Amino acid sequence: MENIQRFRLSFVWFALIFEAFVSVSSQPLAVACGSKGGKDEDGRNWESDEKYLKSSHGSTQLQAGYQDPSLLSTIPYMNARIFTSPATYQFPIKSTERYLARFHFYPSAYSNFNISNSYFSVIAGEVTLMNNFSAEITCEALTQAYLIREYSLAPLDSEILTITFTPSTNYTNSFAFVNGIELIAMPNLFGMTAVVGCDSSSDLDISSENFQLMFRLNVGGQYIPPSKDSGGLFRSWYNDDPYVFAAALGVNIEADKGFHIRYRNLSHSSAPEDVYRTARAMGSDGHLNLMFNLTWWFPVDANFTYVVRLHFCEFQDDMVNQRVFNIYINNQSAQADPYPADIIGWTGRKGVPTYKDYAIFVYDGPSDEMVMIQMTPSTESKPQYYDSQLNGVEIFKLDDENKNLAGSNPQLSSMLLETGSEPKKSFRSKSNNSVIAGAAGGAAASLVLVALALYAYRKRRQAGGADSRASSWLPLHGNSNSNGSKYGKSNSSHASALAQGLSRHFSISEIRQATENFIDSNVIGVGGFGKVYKGVIDGGTKVAIKRSNPSSEQGVNEFQTEIEMLSKLRHKHLVSLIGFCEDGGEMCLVYDYMALGTFREHLYNNKKPQLSWQQRLEICIGAARGLHYLHTGAKYTIIHRDVKTTNILLDEKWVAKVSDFGLSKTGPEMNQGHVSTVVKGSFGYLDPEYFQRQQLTEKSDVYSFGVVLFEALCARPALNPSLPKEQVSLADWARHCHKIGTLEEIIDPHLKGKTNPECVKKFADTAVKCLSDQGIERPHMGDVLWNLEFALQLQVSADIASGLIDQGSSTSSDSSVRSQRQGNNSQGSEIELNEEPDNQIDIFSQLVNQKGR
Ligand SMILES: *[C@@H]1O[C@H](CO)[C@@H](O)[C@H](O)[C@H]1NC(C)=O
Ligand SMILES: *[C@@H]1O[C@H](CO)[C@@H](O)[C@H](O)[C@H]1NC(C)=O
Ligand SMILES: *[C@@H]1O[C@H](CO)[C@@H](O)[C@H](O)[C@H]1NC(C)=O
Ligand SMILES: *[C@@H]1O[C@H](CO)[C@@H](O)[C@H](O)[C@H]1NC(C)=O
Ligand SMILES: *[C@@H]1O[C@H](CO)[C@@H](O)[C@H](O)[C@H]1NC(C)=O
Ligand SMILES: *[C@@H]1O[C@H](CO)[C@@H](O)[C@H](O)[C@H]1NC(C)=O
Ligand SMILES: *[C@@H]1O[C@H](CO)[C@@H](O)[C@H](O)[C@H]1NC(C)=O
Repeated sequence: MENIQRFRLSFVWFALIFEAFVSVSSQPLAVACGSKGGKDEDGRNWESDEKYLKSSHGSTQLQAGYQDPSLLSTIPYMNARIFTSPATYQFPIKSTERYLARFHFYPSAYSNFNISNSYFSVIAGEVTLMNNFSAEITCEALTQAYLIREYSLAPLDSEILTITFTPSTNYTNSFAFVNGIELIAMPNLFGMTAVVGCDSSSDLDISSENFQLMFRLNVGGQYIPPSKDSGGLFRSWYNDDPYVFAAALGVNIEADKGFHIRYRNLSHSSAPEDVYRTARAMGSDGHLNLMFNLTWWFPVDANFTYVVRLHFCEFQDDMVNQRVFNIYINNQSAQADPYPADIIGWTGRKGVPTYKDYAIFVYDGPSDEMVMIQMTPSTESKPQYYDSQLNGVEIFKLDDENKNLAGSNPQLSSMLLETGSEPKKSFRSKSNNSVIAGAAGGAAASLVLVALALYAYRKRRQAGGADSRASSWLPLHGNSNSNGSKYGKSNSSHASALAQGLSRHFSISEIRQATENFIDSNVIGVGGFGKVYKGVIDGGTKVAIKRSNPSSEQGVNEFQTEIEMLSKLRHKHLVSLIGFCEDGGEMCLVYDYMALGTFREHLYNNKKPQLSWQQRLEICIGAARGLHYLHTGAKYTIIHRDVKTTNILLDEKWVAKVSDFGLSKTGPEMNQGHVSTVVKGSFGYLDPEYFQRQQLTEKSDVYSFGVVLFEALCARPALNPSLPKEQVSLADWARHCHKIGTLEEIIDPHLKGKTNPECVKKFADTAVKCLSDQGIERPHMGDVLWNLEFALQLQVSADIASGLIDQGSSTSSDSSVRSQRQGNNSQGSEIELNEEPDNQIDIFSQLVNQKGR
């Protein structure tokens, strides 16, 4: 009896010990390489890599010589382990578990190691993850400072995972390096997978495959940081905007606040609730929806199989056959008539999430290096609503038969090569291309647009295909709106949501040194807040430093507002805050230096060369993007409150950036509708409604932006008291001229004969709509943006036409027809439906202006 008791006891002990052992080895592991470890900005603990390194022979620990402002955290990025000969890490693992392995690289100057010489391979278990890998080239092509690579490794049948770093022998002085490694056990979320274009007999079992993550997106929703991920997997989920092909963006839909997501038998690790609570749908107009495909596209490496995982959760409809749609991947049926997608049909009820995997091989053809997902309503099943929806998407690359996942390094475009060896540089945006290319998806509707698409396509190919290719190295970030800040390597809007709370602290002595002790010859501007100085930090980086006027109490508040706002916001078209100084009684803000100054100084009252019409359009589009982001891209609506041409700054590549959020105010939350506040802003730009009722909505910014548009078109100040009374206010005068049809006469004389009349018409119509007296009649910034992009396309296509075939002004008759139609359009926005579908452009415009139901 006693024996049995004792036996039981020891068995329990054994079980406990065994469990403790096992759970230790399945704890998520975050290893800061080449450092002692510590907590990152998210509060996550990183341990030193010492105990996992098999032998430290040939390895060095070094600190990066420069901290890029876009780095999320000093840990793990500021320290690296450098290997000059093959070196191995050994990590304890559970033999039956699938593991997620994440690698962090920050290619920077590490002591006397020249990062340009770093080419290496990484092998985990038997899987080649990287080969001849250059983190520097990859980062450069992505225009970002650091890089995260994520892999999912099949169960290894071993208690130890060996990861080997091998410097390439093909380069002299080559070395390998790594800044951080994460290893996290995850449920095996992979199983039988349908192969696109084949019947179910050829389904693929991918449960024992190895993957590289290419993209992971919260479709129709916001960036989800690692700390908010489910299942403890620390994944980042990015917004899908940059990947939506075509201007037909559909609509973002979101579940109500209290809506409950029930995972049922789905693993919580599949995706966090926030992925399932938001989605992109097509819009409320079913007949319109039948005319197009909601399309996303993703550049990838050729000659690999990809698994496309689509996440769904219905939160609007209750029954089968309400929202039924076809899904195509690379032009082939993935889930289409006669087997269309019906989320309720799959899950049985609202609020239950699910995901579907589809495998597709991507060939190496002239236009094939992409994964394209398209959705359009099913017609065969005659559903209640002609609509489709997607909540999330992940794309994984499968290893090939040699257990290889490595592709080649991206090719830098010639443009990137030109700016070559400088460590920090700006890259020209690719957004023009994507804007134009973006038109292509809706192009079925319009000949003009088809022509443009072809043009854009040619341009892409001419660019060597490198641009499109580059993004395949971007498993985690967007392509179209990355980069472009003075720090070319700072991130796209969603990537930089990561940067929340990270702004650098400067000491007052650093600031004094940077500005040569606030010498007056360095003053580049004066605002309500105080003087703005130019300065130099880090031995060569130009910055703008705003110094608060210690006597102004308003300054203190605005200083704090601005730090709070800006440190959370990063966008290509917003001036980035680098850091701040609150020291020795001084308050300073340090920004990117905008080499070309304000938009206004390039428009009038100066001796600078005149901006071309296309340049002005591009600047207006950039600023509109920045404002659109403020209104919709961040967690809360942010109202700028002081939109004017002096708050639109230009960097050395003419990229427009909205600045000066000192007056910004977080906009209406939920249903409140407006924010009451003391009137601020600049005369000449003030929304009359705001002025009278002191009610602030984002439409107040739209009004001010309308004034900016006319300033760009007419090259005169918003207020000019020296003119006759009726002409003093540009807003009033331009609206008047537009109404009586004499707008032509007040257009900047420098533009005469150099603009396409259609384009100017579109532009002026848009500006006039912005200036509507009633806020509700004004378009949203997104509509303004689209209309401006469309205007730009008209100009570009006219320029192409006149360059290729001289057709004179053949479009003018057409434009007068359209102007009559739009004259009847009293709502001041193009959202509403015109009954006559004869005008293709109107249909296209409806596509991009859809509303949710
Ligand atoms: C690093 O190497 C590259 C190419 O090998 C060379 O062009 C560059 O000058 C080197 N940089 C330094 C600082 O030695
Ligand atoms: C060196 O180059 C040769 C061919 O040029 C290639 O076969 C080999 O794999 C390369 N070695 C490394 C370590 O990249
Ligand atoms: C989860 O539930 C659904 C519907 O009840 C069923 O079709 C599916 O096979 C289940 N999945 C698993 C992994 O049990
Ligand atoms: C893909 O495979 C084909 C045929 O094997 C080959 O010609 C081509 O170079 C490969 N492309 C890439 C990018 O590896
Ligand atoms: C899909 O079809 C379109 C139009 O026919 C074509 O331009 C595109 O290259 C195709 N995409 C793929 C991946 O086959
Ligand atoms: C949507 O895309 C599929 C696959 O490329 C195509 O067959 C279909 O015609 C498209 N539908 C519309 C309405 O454009
Ligand atoms: C290694 O990568 C570099 C840069 O992309 C490339 O020029 C070189 O050909 C590659 N070498 C091998 C052996 O693949």
